[in-house]
Amino acid sequence: TIRTVHTVSELREQVKAWRAAGERVALVPTMGALHAGHVALMRAARSHAERIVVSIFVNPTQFAPTEDLSRYPRTLEADLDKADAAGVDLAFVPDAAEMYPEGFSTTISLTGPALGLETDFRPTHFAGVATVVAKLLLQAAPDVAMFGEKDYQQLQVVTRMARDLDIPVRIVGVPTVRESDGLALSSRNVYLSPEDRAAAPELHRALSGAAAAIAYGGNVLSAVDAARRTVTAAGFQLDYLEARHAETLAPVASREQGPIRLLVAARIGATRLIDNLAVPD
Ligand code: PAJ
Repeated sequence: TIRTVHTVSELREQVKAWRAAGERVALVPTMGALHAGHVALMRAARSHAERIVVSIFVNPTQFAPTEDLSRYPRTLEADLDKADAAGVDLAFVPDAAEMYPEGFSTTISLTGPALGLETDFRPTHFAGVATVVAKLLLQAAPDVAMFGEKDYQQLQVVTRMARDLDIPVRIVGVPTVRESDGLALSSRNVYLSPEDRAAAPELHRALSGAAAAIAYGGNVLSAVDAARRTVTAAGFQLDYLEARHAETLAPVASREQGPIRLLVAARIGATRLIDNLAVPD
């Protein structure tokens, strides 16, 4: 059954003991409010490692002052039950002082996949993500770390950061888990009113339509334009909907420029949703 620790030194000691026994370790970083998307990461972790660590930490440095840090859902007891049921061995649940002691002064500065998209609307977000993920990777020293494709730009930023900083870990991306109507599972879906919840699947529908059009040879920018109109007509305020190179996230205008990922962020009511989809080869 699952064990919970709150300090870096307890985490390190446990991982060290597993290592000494020849066991591989997978880390699943989360902010809690666990749902089936998080559980998919835990299940995927089992094919890479004998031991699974989940971290649960609502990281204040990735929220802007105007964002939902204080009302972010916190459900620790239920989270530990879900992680336990998914076969997780250890939950690392630090408090803010453990992660950011008095005098904390370091942050990771990013370019490449961090440019544009989310960064145009949340300029300090990925610096907070990259810094806390680097800390978690150094604290747990896992063989692999699991990240969801749901947060596709985050996955690319973290992959690039681990490579650039020579952190000896394999970053593994896990496909997005969706509701049956296509809405990507998210801890923030609980904020949606019934009306907004009914409109929300239009995000995925718009991306699917554009991905199919491009896959059948349609013009990339026309397909993106049509998807933007679909999302807006469904009642969303669009932050962005773009076609990017699937790994570098550089802007692309045609399929000759490499594999394409479509990415969207849009607001409905008080809720901001993000989603993305691969254009099939
Ligand atoms: P959080 O939003 O809790 O997500 C934790 C992990 O679960 C991320 O890798 C995210 O991409 C993945 N995830 C969320 N919804 C998913 C879905 N529907 N399908 C598949 N995977 C999904 O992302 C964060 O936390 C934080 O930024 C973190 C990386 C923990 C750093 O603080």
